[in-house]
Amino acid sequence: MISQNTIQQILSRIDIVEIVGSFIRLKKRGTNYLGLCPFHNEKSPSFTVSPAKEIYKCFGCGRSGNTIGFLMEHEKYSYVEALRWLAQKYNVDVEETETTPEQKLLQLSADSLYIVNSFAQKFFTDHLFNSEEGQDIGLSYLKERGFREDIIKKFQIGFNPEARDSFAKAAIHAQYSVDLLQKSGLVAIRDERPVDNYRGRIIFPVHNQSGKVLGFGARILKTNDKAPKYINTPENEIYVKSKILYGSYFARMAIDKADECLLVEGYTDVVSLHQAGIENVVASGGTSLTPDQLRLVKKYTNNLTIIYDGDSAGIKAALRGLDLALEESLNVKLVLIPDKEDPDSYVNKVGPAAFSQFISENKKDFILFQLGVMLQDAGTDTNKKSAVVNQVAETISKINKAEDFTKQQDYIKQCAELLKIEESGLHALVNKFIREKITKEETRASREDTNNRNSDNTQPVEIEDDVMALLNKDEPHERAMVRSLIEFGLKQWDEKQRVADHVFSEIEENQLEELIDNKNLLILVKTYKAWYDEGLEPTAKTFLYHEDNMIRHLAMAVMDYHYEISPNWKNVYEGKIDSREDLYKEEVFSTLNYLKLRKIKRMVAENQHDLEQAASTDEQMVLLQVHQHLKKMEIDLTRKLGTVIFR
Ligand code: GTP
Ligand code: MN
Repeated sequence: MISQNTIQQILSRIDIVEIVGSFIRLKKRGTNYLGLCPFHNEKSPSFTVSPAKEIYKCFGCGRSGNTIGFLMEHEKYSYVEALRWLAQKYNVDVEETETTPEQKLLQLSADSLYIVNSFAQKFFTDHLFNSEEGQDIGLSYLKERGFREDIIKKFQIGFNPEARDSFAKAAIHAQYSVDLLQKSGLVAIRDERPVDNYRGRIIFPVHNQSGKVLGFGARILKTNDKAPKYINTPENEIYVKSKILYGSYFARMAIDKADECLLVEGYTDVVSLHQAGIENVVASGGTSLTPDQLRLVKKYTNNLTIIYDGDSAGIKAALRGLDLALEESLNVKLVLIPDKEDPDSYVNKVGPAAFSQFISENKKDFILFQLGVMLQDAGTDTNKKSAVVNQVAETISKINKAEDFTKQQDYIKQCAELLKIEESGLHALVNKFIREKITKEETRASREDTNNRNSDNTQPVEIEDDVMALLNKDEPHERAMVRSLIEFGLKQWDEKQRVADHVFSEIEENQLEELIDNKNLLILVKTYKAWYDEGLEPTAKTFLYHEDNMIRHLAMAVMDYHYEISPNWKNVYEGKIDSREDLYKEEVFSTLNYLKLRKIKRMVAENQHDLEQAASTDEQMVLLQVHQHLKKMEIDLTRKLGTVIFR
């Protein structure tokens, strides 16, 4: 494990805006920052980052968390990996405490995949350039295809020798475990012996956003009907196909600069276009685009241009991603490469300038292109044609009206023309789909809203409410108390003690369990107390970055809990409206005493019950005295509490 000391050092440096902002575009809005949520599809930003609270929250999908939570969710890191990532970023030396071998294995799993991939990449590159076989077979093949050495080196292309196990041997010699080698897809077991998976193939490493090798695409050299043309890394902790766009590491700056991302099918298309100086290009591997891949594009630009060769298999696949792209407000254009060429062969044939010119002159709008394809399919069949009309209307309805109103109007006009139907008719149909969508969203939103309200339970409860109400679980008050402890615990209560000292001395007389019903909140207070007793100084941050996922979420829920001091309270202070910060003593006082009052009321109710059941007058007398005593305490406390009402 990473030592508490190291964690503290990391935490003290964390800047949530800086970290989140390095993954998504954020704009300042008041005290917060706003951006497009990376966790769900959205067109207008509802993803908020609060530097003050050090949390992010998406008002669209409801996801929230702190910096570490963000890294875990976004980068699929474990808690420890996220800490290590931050440690590296902030140059904090990681001090390790004892770990069990199992923990170590788990932690290292993703790391070791990166390490073995890096080892393999170097091995393959070395063999391409420095072995006779690599030069004669691999390098000569690449050169024949016109790839320059500087480009081969830039993309770290390599060669795996033909022999059964030359890589496996080298890797095992270098102490890599067979399990890891298998998981990485580099090695397989045949007849109980490790053998190379990519024998005699050209190797294209696949890099992540920061240039680390996630996996490989291995291309066969000879034409062989039995063997697949490419073998790719199997899905593992780091190679997640649906999130990968080949070449994105090399393209990101160029995409940003050109404000356009070119999407091609193959590895060689990317490499060739780079060589031609067209660097804003990534490849999807010929499958339909996934939401994650679209989001990756959207990080850099809103303009996606898909460049496919004329054969229809790839186009159909690409078309499937269309509706999603529209919902993401991406402008999607399509270019088909003529004459059975692909981008790689075409750029080699006509040269960079003519290629770029061809692309810019032949960009077709995606929706109109799709409509053309569908109309061709439908022919003269009227049933099919009406299905096409419906399909187009639905597609157009996906365009975000608020952002792209004119675009939507243009489409309706152009599509109506192509379909040879009345513009107003298509208009009405599009509106129908929009209405349906809105209704669906509203239903969902209201359902979520009800859920939130139920779980939040923030209805105002007045202190003067009857006993029954108090006997019910009134969690908001418990939350308020826990929150004030976490937030203000280290502030001075009086000259002699801090808020936390005061709270815990008060609580000692009233058992913790008797004051707080909610088991989760109880855990938070107990955790606070344990830390505080140990001499640590717990703050909201300590909780929000706790190793235990549950504690983190509990703390988040509590810190996120909104309430305002009621107008009554403000009146008491004659219009002087202070922030919670200024009123922290009052808040601690009232939240704690509220729970005490509740406890007393419960005791009164219990006593009442006993009184009714009492068998003897003696017993009744005692219980009556208890009643009077409790009532007096209740009145005193109520008086002390004044008119504080929480909402
Ligand atoms: P060249 O033909 O050498 O130019 O390669 P290419 O990258 O242009 O290949 P192609 O256009 O045939 O295929 C496009 C992409 O689809 C490739 O880059 C691969 O990502 C993927 N692909 C093609 N064939 C296979 C295969 O047999 N298996 C797998 N897993 N992927 C393939
Ligand atoms: Mn090709």
